[in-house]
Amino acid sequence: MEAVKCAVVGLGLIGTEHAAVLAGSPAADLAVCCDVDPQAKGRVPDGVPFTTVLDEALAAPGLEAVFVCTPEFAHRPTVEAALARDLHVFCEKPLAASLEDANAMIEAANRRGGGLDVGHILRFDLRYIELWRAVRSGKLGRCVHVVARRNSWDTEGKAVRGRTTLPLYLGVHDLDVLRWLAGDIARVYAEAGGAGVVGEGIHDTVAATLRFDSGAVGLLELSWGTPSQTGIEWDSRLAFIGSEGSAYVDIAETGVSVYTAQGPQFPDTTYWPRTYGAPSGILRTEDEHLLLRVRDGRPWPLTLEDARAALVAALAMDRSIAEERPVSLTELVEGDPTS
Ligand SMILES: NC(=O)c1ccc[n+]([C@@H]2O[C@H](COP(=O)([O-])OP(=O)(O)OC[C@H]3O[C@@H](n4cnc5c(N)ncnc54)[C@H](O)[C@@H]3O)[C@@H](O)[C@H]2O)c1
Repeated sequence: MEAVKCAVVGLGLIGTEHAAVLAGSPAADLAVCCDVDPQAKGRVPDGVPFTTVLDEALAAPGLEAVFVCTPEFAHRPTVEAALARDLHVFCEKPLAASLEDANAMIEAANRRGGGLDVGHILRFDLRYIELWRAVRSGKLGRCVHVVARRNSWDTEGKAVRGRTTLPLYLGVHDLDVLRWLAGDIARVYAEAGGAGVVGEGIHDTVAATLRFDSGAVGLLELSWGTPSQTGIEWDSRLAFIGSEGSAYVDIAETGVSVYTAQGPQFPDTTYWPRTYGAPSGILRTEDEHLLLRVRDGRPWPLTLEDARAALVAALAMDRSIAEERPVSLTELVEGDPTS
């Protein structure tokens, strides 16, 4: 396959990982990296040009695809600029920070006839895929209830506090998977709290109940305030309880633990680990799927409507926290003039 000429925009936590994957993949020709912060140049893979000007990056000769890894509120302008140049766009989750932005982006993609895919990485995680396969086989019966947890380090919460919310940053991962497994979410009731770990006035944790259209119910627990000195970076679990069987994902363990004077460490063996220096893992699978899709049009595992629905559920959780009441998802969609 001829390598796909691509760019990465936004070289922060996840954009740096995407850039490393693309620089090391034979399926990609990483032509340029872009970030509004000139200091991001230090995170660009060796030999790859860098610019702080988006238009300059998008004008790279022969460019075919753009990986948008800017903060949530900056997805829309970047995605729209790339689509306007007829480029294939990978946009990190969540699709956007607001329903208005999401609708405008979907409209822009539809005008181009497609070419916008949202990176919900759990759709490429074999543990969640296997759980979905079990559900789809029918052997678990009808969904009775689901339980999901996504707890990450306080360092992550401290890095993004004030910019986004727990439901939008972490919850959207599970809300997408829960919809995938159990169908549309009708209503959410979320409570937020904490102990001031991440910052004054910032929620460390969210606990929510979910009501599905099917009648099933669910629980979702989120935190970005677990102490980093424990070494447990991703304590994420999911349980699907069906009328005829049940299935579970547990990714708190990475399969390897190292204990030294610096404390315990559980090195990443799944999402973006290095195999003898080469970026590997699920992020690489996701990125190479996108590159192959640009070449042969293979399907993306979720639609823009799926990405939008996960966003709506996350926004409903935020509204529920703010207004201290259960929120039906239809409230957001029907109350939105851009829907
Ligand atoms: N799939 C995952 O597991 C995963 C993990 C982390 C973050 N994310 C998502 O990725 C996106 C980025 O998150 P992050 O944690 O890497 O953020 P970050 O703050 O670490 O990095 C964002 C980068 O974008 C740059 N930037 C800001 N505005 C820009 C603009 N208009 N044009 C170009 N660059 C701009 C910033 O300078 C920064 O370097 C978010 O949507 C987030 O939810 C996904």
